[in-house]
Amino acid sequence: MLMIKSRAGSRATRGGGRLRAVLGVTTTALLTVTALAALPQTAHAADTLGAAAAEKGRYFGAAVAAHRLSEAQYVSTLNTEFNSVTPENEMKWDALEPSRGSFNFSSADRIVNHAQSRGMDVRGHTLVWHSQLPSWVSGLGAADLRTAMNNHITEVMTHYKGEIHSWDVVNEAFQDGGSGARRSSPFQDKLGNGFIEEAFRTARAADPDAKLCYNDYNTDGVNAKSNAVYTMVKDFKSRGVPIDCVGFQSHFNSASPVPSDYQANLQRFADLGVEVQITELDIEGSGTTQATHYGNVVKACLAVTRCTGITVWGIPDKYSWRASGTPLLFDDNYNKKPAYHAVLSALGGTSGGGPGGPGTPGAACTATYTTAEDWGGGYNGKVTVTAGSSPISNWSVNVTLTAPQKVVSVWNGTPAWDSSGNVMTVKSSWNGTLAAGASTSFGFTVNRNGGSAPPQVGACTAS
Ligand code: XIL
Repeated sequence: MLMIKSRAGSRATRGGGRLRAVLGVTTTALLTVTALAALPQTAHAADTLGAAAAEKGRYFGAAVAAHRLSEAQYVSTLNTEFNSVTPENEMKWDALEPSRGSFNFSSADRIVNHAQSRGMDVRGHTLVWHSQLPSWVSGLGAADLRTAMNNHITEVMTHYKGEIHSWDVVNEAFQDGGSGARRSSPFQDKLGNGFIEEAFRTARAADPDAKLCYNDYNTDGVNAKSNAVYTMVKDFKSRGVPIDCVGFQSHFNSASPVPSDYQANLQRFADLGVEVQITELDIEGSGTTQATHYGNVVKACLAVTRCTGITVWGIPDKYSWRASGTPLLFDDNYNKKPAYHAVLSALGGTSGGGPGGPGTPGAACTATYTTAEDWGGGYNGKVTVTAGSSPISNWSVNVTLTAPQKVVSVWNGTPAWDSSGNVMTVKSSWNGTLAAGASTSFGFTVNRNGGSAPPQVGACTAS
């Protein structure tokens, strides 16, 4: 079943942790209602990622940045498509406890409050990590560091008690490469191997209802690093050290592709009796190749009963930490990419057809803009049109220019202008027929005439 904790008591919980006790025996019924309420409300249940995942008993989440929550398109895409969030940076140590004993929860609270108001789940990321760690922590001696680590875990988890679905208690504690050794960090170097176990025990005491995860990257296939994590989890399970889940970050690109034994690796961890979660998914690339990889990741999770959810590491490509690799499901204009449709389809959802654009389920086609050549006084624009999950026989895209800029020629498309001469509607010419997921492009030349604003490319429509 979808693990969504009731947000109803969040205020009480942040004020004093009484939610669980109050819910008592009625918890199961309340959870069911809450899970249904978490489904995006604007579309048929299986028209969105969150709804389709929920029908499979999984969550589908996104990493979210607090400062984007004032952007309308960002929020509408988040609210429509996702039923779980992970704060991208706001729950890291440098954000929450920038100086010793002084906690600042404001940005993280903003994300948690948004999630709660929409019935979304929250993943907590991350309590103990060598990166985004304030220098005061690295400067401590061993005894002080142990106290500071346990205090940080306890303070943060108590603040969010009852509100976090899963916590990444320890992140990235193993080295890359063939050794399977621990990564050097202030925690490892000063506290030794036992720091991970200690962090998990402290975490369990602080919020017994949160699932406690170990999270890492390059552990997605069977290799020396994932073997080392596997050995640790097995040991924890055999000795009763509290651990509930393992997070597989799943940052993929051509140098680090989706491993062929991805599913088998998830399965062997699941067989140890822990949940597995795909926690930071992004796959660099574009078009059908990227879509195929995304679809395969989703299918691997669905094939593993204990794979309980997937989080993508951002919403539109332009805000990705790897923006140049266009690794996400939405393009810079929030159009759904072929990868989106592949994920929805792998989840068993269906696109509804109709016009594309933010918050519109099932875009028939999407349009992506790039500047092909630029010579100062003018430029050539290129718009790539990609069919959604169904074939199309024609397409239409609006391109808006800011005066005094003017389009002087158009190719591979038939243009028409509005009365202002600034809005150009380009319809397909010979290139209207596209198979599902297939792409074509049109181009146009602009004279800047002294202007500088980039063209605005609207949603793609097909009929
Ligand atoms: C990244 C964020 O996306 C960036 O905004 C930030 O500058 C650096 O951290 N592994 C993790 C995430 O566990 O916390 C990282 O997030 C990406 C790699």
